[in-house]
Amino acid sequence: MVLVASLVLLSVGACQVDDTEPVGSQDWLTGDTREKLETITHHLRGFDMAMVETGYRYSELYWAGHDRNWDYARYQVEKIDVALARGLERRPARAASAQQFLNGGLPDMGAAVESEDWEVFHEQFEIFTISCNACHAAEGVPHFRVQIPDVRQSPIRFD
Ligand code: HEC
Repeated sequence: MVLVASLVLLSVGACQVDDTEPVGSQDWLTGDTREKLETITHHLRGFDMAMVETGYRYSELYWAGHDRNWDYARYQVEKIDVALARGLERRPARAASAQQFLNGGLPDMGAAVESEDWEVFHEQFEIFTISCNACHAAEGVPHFRVQIPDVRQSPIRFD
């Protein structure tokens, strides 16, 4: 009985813990725990940042293949997978349109990287690009037309 009473008291006490103390540099994150988490979800952003990252990695993947830098190409395929998976966790309504890309476009691109053959890679990269654009069409953003890059963005080179 005493034990039950003290457990009840303990849990009541736990509920009263003040969770509104600001955290972060210069106490920028305020509110109770729920409000703080809400703020953090806004900072994580939705699908757009996953796509900014995907666009960058798509371009890097192309130049990796061009340079025959196959380890870097493998890395980019993996990170596109991660970026898309996290984006879809945040925006599950987009998942249905991504299935063709996740089950076909991306693994097929990964297999072409494994061939370590530029001809195979290049041919698959064109199909890969079509699978990006297919999802854009399905998601109502056909004006976001992906094209094989003609300029490099990052300083990574492989001689
Ligand atoms: C779920 C299907 C889906 C797949 C697969 C997909 N995209 Fe997207 N992409 C979108 C949507 C939706 C947007 C618009 C973002 C928004 O409204 O939040 C977008 C936007 C973009 C943007 C613009 C980002 C910005 O905000 O500036 C780029 C770049 C992009 N995608 C590249 C790619 C590339 C490259 C691929 C393939 C490697 C790809 N996407 C695959 C759905 C997809």
